[in-house]
Amino acid sequence: MKVLGIETSCDETGVAIFDTEKGILAEALFSQVAVHAEYGGVVPELASRDHVRKLIPLLREVFADAGLEFADIDGVAYTAGPGLIGALMVGAAAGRALGMAWNVPTIGVHHMEGHLLAPLLEDDAPKPPFVALLVSGGHTQLVNVGALGEYELMGESIDDAAGEAFDKVAKMLDLDYPGGPHVARLALNGTEGRFKFPRPMVDRPGLDMSFSGLKTASLYAVQDLQKQSPDGQLSEQDKADICLAFEQAAVDTLAIKCRRAIEQSGHQVLVMAGGVSANRRLRAKLEEASAKLGAKVSYPRPQYCTDNGAMIAFAGALRLQAGQHDDLRLNIKPRWPLSDLPAI
Ligand code: KG4
Ligand code: ZN
Repeated sequence: MKVLGIETSCDETGVAIFDTEKGILAEALFSQVAVHAEYGGVVPELASRDHVRKLIPLLREVFADAGLEFADIDGVAYTAGPGLIGALMVGAAAGRALGMAWNVPTIGVHHMEGHLLAPLLEDDAPKPPFVALLVSGGHTQLVNVGALGEYELMGESIDDAAGEAFDKVAKMLDLDYPGGPHVARLALNGTEGRFKFPRPMVDRPGLDMSFSGLKTASLYAVQDLQKQSPDGQLSEQDKADICLAFEQAAVDTLAIKCRRAIEQSGHQVLVMAGGVSANRRLRAKLEEASAKLGAKVSYPRPQYCTDNGAMIAFAGALRLQAGQHDDLRLNIKPRWPLSDLPAI
């Protein structure tokens, strides 16, 4: 079965074709980073308009790359939520229209299920049951995955998502959006121990997390340095030192909660997914923490950590293969708990 996947939930237009026998046949991605850069964050209306502009050229590109005709497609998957409503509407309208034109079933995919299942596109794919850490710009969640499609929320951030905190700290330091990769790069030159930020909520039982206090701690450090500096500017070393302290605190917090989630679930595998799972310090820390518990860590290749069409084509293919598909409504869900999904 060959499934076309369309991702338009936020600021990347992603298109891919997944074959249930051969894997990903072709994929294309357009990142809107430059469109939103001058605003320091995603502007929803600009995002929707750019998805409209890029979707058809990207579709043509993947069909050409895969050497396929439209008639070769057996189903269409598109991101139905969570995300920006206008951006979601673009992908959903296109997906449903193509399904009707080609007379094939369509399915609205949960964006976070796409992320969660992305590690299954790799060789040595993890098999449920496992614990999943979903860390993106909008979500930070620990999920107990009993089976494909059976998701129980174990804990989540009660305020900012981890990626959002990376982005906000980057903004304070005048780094480009999205900030995660820039903070990680600067942290490599940071001075160990110059700043020490709190590890929020780790002394409390449970698996909920908080990242807004870390953002505030970073802001105070920035303001102190600005006062001390003759020209009110931070040096590159100051910035690197704040990035290191912030990254270490965020990573430690996530690792402590992951360790607890593995112990609580009794599972032997931890899957990490979403944009922040590309972070090297986080990967290393989670591998170290999991190894102590005899658990294995699994994550997608970097290009499948951040938003992409391949994960949507794959998650959609699993559900279409199981006989699930849309009804006649155009059903967009800007808010959509993972636990509402049916089993696959
Ligand atoms: O999954 P994603 O592409 O989009 C959402 O669904 O939100 O995640 C984007 C987030 C951004 O906040 C970005 O700063 C963060 O992932 N990110 C990183 C890294 N690469 C991307 N954060 C930390 N370290 C990275 N290497
Ligand atoms: Zn995402």
